[in-house]
Amino acid sequence: MGYQNSQIAEVAKDLKARAKIEGSAVLRSTELKALFDEIKTLPQKQRGSFGKEINLLKQELQKIVDSKQSTVASLKSIDVTAPFDINVPADKRPKLLPSEFGGQHPLTTEINNIVKIFARMGLEAVESRQLDDDYHMFTSLNFPEGHPARDDWDTFVTVEKDKDGKPFIAPAQTSTMQNRVLKERKYKLKENKPIAVIIPGRTFRNEDVDARHEHTFYQLEGIYVDHGINAGHLVATIKEWLNNYYNKEINIKIQPFYFPFTEPSFEFIASCPFCEGNGCGICSHTGWIELGGCGVIHPNVLKMADIDPNEYTGFAWGFGIDRLVMLKNNIEDVRHFESGKLEFLRQFR
Ligand code: DAH
Repeated sequence: MGYQNSQIAEVAKDLKARAKIEGSAVLRSTELKALFDEIKTLPQKQRGSFGKEINLLKQELQKIVDSKQSTVASLKSIDVTAPFDINVPADKRPKLLPSEFGGQHPLTTEINNIVKIFARMGLEAVESRQLDDDYHMFTSLNFPEGHPARDDWDTFVTVEKDKDGKPFIAPAQTSTMQNRVLKERKYKLKENKPIAVIIPGRTFRNEDVDARHEHTFYQLEGIYVDHGINAGHLVATIKEWLNNYYNKEINIKIQPFYFPFTEPSFEFIASCPFCEGNGCGICSHTGWIELGGCGVIHPNVLKMADIDPNEYTGFAWGFGIDRLVMLKNNIEDVRHFESGKLEFLRQFR
């Protein structure tokens, strides 16, 4: 059985709509061809009127196609990247919105400042990486396989596995770079020079986010190895850096702590640079702020990099850069840094 009149009207409507979008492709469509094929199957006396109707439809489709083509041809050119219609003469274009110059992110500015201070003190900067592996995150830092201390550095891992069948890790600390830095620079010790490196980097944690905790933040790692290095060198080096960074005398204290990769390990506490130790909202009215961890490098960490701990010793530290910058600029919420909020960022241009 062939097409009913109502069906033809429906197909015609559909083809006309398509012609506006698809253009001449509609004239070659199987639907139109099917209508023409239908003519031959009809009884002789119906063919005339049916054929006339289909030919009329074809003419109408052709008209739609032609008008579409002339619209496209009338456009001189299209530039999808231009913020205005490039076919409109320059003096007739609407006024553009005022443009705005961007600026450096406050964390980038401050990382550069910190790198400069350490360069003057003779420490070179090495960038950390944003994806690492189990060996550098844990094993090389004296965390034995399955040790509960690993849980304190809970972070994100990839579904993809490395050659040992372990996931890649978004580093929860810049300490992941220690083993590499020690191995790559141990030749310096043979030349009677220290290994003296800072490592700024982006770090990640599976964190309950609040005004003081972010899942993504920055750390400043430092590592110094030579003959006869002790915790006194550690305290003096960090104090010198902080005095320079805040451009004022910062009082400090250290208190015992635990890290698998240092022995002894400390928390480094500084007098609040904001209120100079008098107590304010930023330091919870204690006058003191905890800046990070540090300690004397554990012999196993040196051994893991083929450095003899009986001959050389060293110190290392890892401080939160976001925290340092918040104290410098009286920023009340760490989440501003990753928010991309222009109201926040414009203050640092
Ligand atoms: N990686 C530690 C953390 O994220 C901080 C740290 C402590 C770094 C002691 C060190 C160190 O290099 O020696 O909490």
